[in-house]
Amino acid sequence: MSAFTEIAASLPDPFRILWRETVSSTNDELRALAEKGSSEGLILIADEQTAGRGRRGAVWLSPKGENLAFSVLLRPIASKALWHRLSLAAGLAVAEALEAFVPVAEIKWPNDVRISGKKIAGILIEAGVDFVIIGIGINVNSTGFPEELAATSLREEIGEEMDRAELLHGVVSRLACRTGEIGIGFDGILKSIRERCALTGHRVSFLSADKRREGVVKGIGTAGELMVEIDGITENVVQADEVRIIG
Ligand code: BTN
Repeated sequence: MSAFTEIAASLPDPFRILWRETVSSTNDELRALAEKGSSEGLILIADEQTAGRGRRGAVWLSPKGENLAFSVLLRPIASKALWHRLSLAAGLAVAEALEAFVPVAEIKWPNDVRISGKKIAGILIEAGVDFVIIGIGINVNSTGFPEELAATSLREEIGEEMDRAELLHGVVSRLACRTGEIGIGFDGILKSIRERCALTGHRVSFLSADKRREGVVKGIGTAGELMVEIDGITENVVQADEVRIIG
């Protein structure tokens, strides 16, 4: 029994918790459960991942017992064409949950969550034929990040140890709400993301189709895309990686 299983009873339906001390990657292990037929709402949370993964094959490291590393299984009823919106919905849900503890959490499109300009959470979304896995890593109680990582944790921001189960409860509550808004309700997601957008007005460099490009971010478009002015023309960028603020 962990603090996580204690909050299980108060999670919104159909969310429920499966806690493991050590897994390879919560995304990988939850995918295996999804493929065996687990139903919507299963949350796999681990104190330690031995092969935690970030986007573009990066390693996601998190010291045992200090932070949050979990994956959520959804079987969206919305059209598959809308599933990519879950990426924005998840980033927003994490930012909103963090705002119970800090004044504002920014979103670095598509879904890195930042506080005071430093990354506090990352999200890795992976889809199967009839399911989506939302993998979330949040720095809760780790401290002393190397300067070059430009990372922070909730503990570093507020100066005291945080209850991981309480934060998990907040994130799941916001996820339950926001993931239900990818169809009707997406305007509300967009509005809330635009209010927290860390990129608008900044010059950025990003990878798109494996090509590095630069431009000034004009905002987030109606389909959730990044609007970037490049050489005087505003382009709608739907997919980009390694987005860096350079001005
Ligand atoms: C990123 O910012 O690159 C995404 C990081 C996602 C990390 C989380 S931790 C829980 C889940 N399991 C994984 O292996 N990765 C995600």
